[in-house]
Amino acid sequence: MSEQQSRCPVIHFDHHSPEHAADTVGAYSKLRSESPVAWTESYGGYWVLSNYKSVFEASRNDDLFSSARHDEYGGEGLSVTIPKAPTAFHIPIELDPPDFRPFRKAVNQVTAPAAVKKLDSVIKHYVTGFIDEIIESGEADLAFVAGVPAAVTVHWLGLDAAKYQNYVNAMHTLVSAAPGSAEYRHAAEVAVPWVSNTVREHIAKRRADPTDDATSHFIKTPVDGRDMTDDEVYSILELVISGGVGTTASLVTQALVWLYQNPEDRQRLIDNPELVDVATEEFLRVFSPTQALARTIMQDADFQGCPVRKGDRALLAWASANRDPEQFENPDTVDITRWPNRHVSFGLGIHRCAGSHLGKAMAREMLRQVLGRMGDYVVDLDKVVTYPDQGTNAGYHSIPVTFTPGTRLNDTPLFADAE
Ligand code: HEM
Repeated sequence: MSEQQSRCPVIHFDHHSPEHAADTVGAYSKLRSESPVAWTESYGGYWVLSNYKSVFEASRNDDLFSSARHDEYGGEGLSVTIPKAPTAFHIPIELDPPDFRPFRKAVNQVTAPAAVKKLDSVIKHYVTGFIDEIIESGEADLAFVAGVPAAVTVHWLGLDAAKYQNYVNAMHTLVSAAPGSAEYRHAAEVAVPWVSNTVREHIAKRRADPTDDATSHFIKTPVDGRDMTDDEVYSILELVISGGVGTTASLVTQALVWLYQNPEDRQRLIDNPELVDVATEEFLRVFSPTQALARTIMQDADFQGCPVRKGDRALLAWASANRDPEQFENPDTVDITRWPNRHVSFGLGIHRCAGSHLGKAMAREMLRQVLGRMGDYVVDLDKVVTYPDQGTNAGYHSIPVTFTPGTRLNDTPLFADAE
């Protein structure tokens, strides 16, 4: 083997395979230590970047690692997944600079900390209401509570929050089910068209009669001195639904299962709810709800000693970078007080998650209320169901729990106006 082949070997790797799903941490740990930049032939071939350094450098080099759609490389569909998912064009995640900037600015205006602060009462309403639905029975599926991010996001956009499950079925399934599975096909053929029609009708309604919701914000905010088209507004809305809904649920459900398995840390957070903020950063690091996303290489180059070629696809494994021992001391130890914590669970560089403040605000409220109101929950670990595919999004489909019944806090129905 030449020096280059041993540095950039061809490996057997498929991040959507059952073997990978069975042990994502082990698989990435082996890759990171043996071949942090490697090539696999799966899905037409792609580079796998698994150490912090390569993920960091790729995500900060938009000229070489493009996020834009290039149908001629890797086929049609969402550019940031491998294989490309059959979604509409997503803005701003599928734009490179300079087109990217005005759209990202428009998104930032409704996702910055001050804007998220205004959503405090909405977040509290849905977290309280979802827990109210189960609190008296003493048994539940914790994955139900994970409907909160979907309801909040849909409400924030001015859509009907009561239909939150339809949005989950559509957008989240495309990035959590195995490509080609029956569930995935149903999402692509039935659920996604429903979302598309409903959201497009909503945009038309708000164009005619704007309100103060996030959809109206995008309709009213100019980019490069002109209004956004309906297609552009749709591209943003579909992205925030698909990007915001599953990720936050994944973070909270993984944290809750881990806290059940680690009762001392659970008790510590119950006794000191103010520690939840810092603990959430560690849960983000070790559970990496978005495990890995993709880019397209724009020119022949040497990257970390490896010969990347124009048109090659590359997978940036955030989950693996988050456990790189060169960046994090004792990376496989979950330390709920770890600080500073420079995890890359929200990505890095210009595309770093626009919804990080919203995601964290929802996650913290969900963790605090579950721990405060049903903190003695017992997880039936034999019946827990994880996503069969953990390649893009890690998480649970089902988490059966029992707990000491409690009392409802709200008399208003869950889907009454949250303002
Ligand atoms: C724990 C929760 C979340 C995680 C782990 C997460 C993860 C990520 C990651 C890794 C990226 C980088 C994409 C890339 O580099 O290609 C991203 C981008 C993005 N996320 Fe999130 N996300 C979360 C919550 C949310 C929420 C709640 C929203 C809703 C507003 C959201 C909206 C977005 C948007 C709009 C982008 C694209 C940003 C851009 O391209 O400039 N995310 N997210």
